[in-house]
Amino acid sequence: MIPESFIQELRFHVDMEQLVSSYVRLQRRGRVSVGLCPFHNEKTPSFTVYPDNQSFYCFGCGAGGDAITFVRRAENLDYPEAVRFLADRAGLRVPDEEGDDEGARMKLRVLECNRAAARFYYDTLVSPAGARGLQYLRARALSDAVIRRFGLGYAPAGWNALTDRLHALGFTEEEMLAARVAAPSKKDGRAYDLFRDRVIFPIIDLRGGVIGFGGRVLEGDGPKYLNSPDTPVFKKSRNLFALNRAKASKQEGLLLAEGYMDVLALHQAGFDNAVATLGTSLTAEQTQLISRYAREVTIAYDSDGAGQKATRRAIGLFEQAGVRVRVLKMEGAKDPDEYIKKFGAGRFKLLLQSCANATEFEIGRLRQSYDLETADGKVAFLNEFAVLMASIRNPIERDVYVKKTAAELAVSPEAVLQMVASNLKKRRGGEARKQQRDLHMYVGAGARGKQNPERERNLKYALAEERLIAMLLQNPDYYSHIAAQIGPEQFVTALNREIFSRLCERLRAGRSIELFSLSGVLNDEEMSLVSGLLAASPSARHSREEADDCIQVLKSHENEKSSGEVAAMDEEQLKRYFQKIVSAKK
Ligand code: CTP
Ligand code: MN
Repeated sequence: MIPESFIQELRFHVDMEQLVSSYVRLQRRGRVSVGLCPFHNEKTPSFTVYPDNQSFYCFGCGAGGDAITFVRRAENLDYPEAVRFLADRAGLRVPDEEGDDEGARMKLRVLECNRAAARFYYDTLVSPAGARGLQYLRARALSDAVIRRFGLGYAPAGWNALTDRLHALGFTEEEMLAARVAAPSKKDGRAYDLFRDRVIFPIIDLRGGVIGFGGRVLEGDGPKYLNSPDTPVFKKSRNLFALNRAKASKQEGLLLAEGYMDVLALHQAGFDNAVATLGTSLTAEQTQLISRYAREVTIAYDSDGAGQKATRRAIGLFEQAGVRVRVLKMEGAKDPDEYIKKFGAGRFKLLLQSCANATEFEIGRLRQSYDLETADGKVAFLNEFAVLMASIRNPIERDVYVKKTAAELAVSPEAVLQMVASNLKKRRGGEARKQQRDLHMYVGAGARGKQNPERERNLKYALAEERLIAMLLQNPDYYSHIAAQIGPEQFVTALNREIFSRLCERLRAGRSIELFSLSGVLNDEEMSLVSGLLAASPSARHSREEADDCIQVLKSHENEKSSGEVAAMDEEQLKRYFQKIVSAKK
């Protein structure tokens, strides 16, 4: 258990705006700061940070909470890990570091085990036992400096080279298996080395932890690459190879390649902003992650068909994450590694400077998929081209592509522009409807409805409960006044009842109910709800009468349960009705 006094101390060392700023570009708007939500895809900012009470709330997806909740979500950590993360940032030491949290302890051991394995692989590579591996890496033109910088290694051919070393270092078989550097033998379940006679690429996360490995065969049998499976500390879909180094690069944007060898060759050639996925195709989580570090990505996938297909897919994902895309077009080499070897870093740099944006890539792809020598082919191409053009927001940009393409196809630009215009009209209709939906979401507190499934059916009572909870959070000194009149059992909706009862428990025990101390007590959903309530109730001062009115409403539940009239009201009507009761009593 982390002592509460430490949480209180930590609270004074964490600045919500500063913390969030390392993930989200924030803009100040009066007393709050807004930005694009890191927890869902959006184009207009609805993610809001409240420096006043050190909380955040997203009006789009309803995520909310304090600094600890934020870190838990953003870094995918559990509670004690998030506290440790914030403590690290603040330069504080969490008392009782080991903790009694078995999961956290195991993660720690897995990380230590991985680090020891990486050390062993590297030591082996540069020892006589690793001569084969070193020779291979050098034959692939990697310099000793890059080998050292990336901590590359060699896993020897035996079955127990690594496991023996780890045993000697005090790791248990259970820990080796959990780290997945070893696998259990079918015969007796004993751990044996997973990577054998392979060169090793350690995968390092943004905090410098060794979270997994990729291993390549030198030559001969077996799959070309073997990657660590997911473990308690490693999720392939959420990490990228070399992002830990690329994030510190001075170069604009990031370079996304397909494989380990590409990334290493690129870094060696000075393109130290290169990253790669980890043996799987790109995920939305990865594009989200990338969007925190770069506004623009250059895709440098293999030039073969599979690479081009993956490029198209990636373009779509990056668009959703709001990251600009450029696409490298390599000729005469299958991937960046080969290109640099054949033509040199200078040529690659030129290639980078001249590379196409996502639209140009897409036009090129469309052109290739139609036979532009025939009239039918031209028409079919232009139809798709017009749809593509309609998706471009900037009219000047649109004009440039239309004129250029029309000229190349020897058709009249006016005719093409007309096709684009009719597609634009169709599109605007759809967008207007979508905006309407978004607006509804925002005003109708759709998120709160999602969190509390009983809310719609009991809107009147839920609103009273929410106000009461908000009031208590903002005026904990009202506790005895409120508690004398109403208890959690009189709450109508289960979610609010749970939150209210947790708050009362703490207040009764004389403990703080500041958001920062609540994240250990409430779950994500409850934290989101509570933060949403605070976000919707900016004036912190409420009168005791207001509390009394809410209490009256809840007490009336018994009698009014079946009142059809109230049940038929929509949210707006109810709000007015409720306001009326409240003001009538003042
Ligand atoms: N990959 C994998 N398993 C395989 C083949 C490939 O996980 N059997 C993943 C690896 O992450 C690899 C990437 O896909 O880095 C790209 O594959 P490929 O182009 O075949 O490898 P290269 O990086 O080009 O490696 P090399 O140059 O050594 O052939
Ligand atoms: Mn390759």
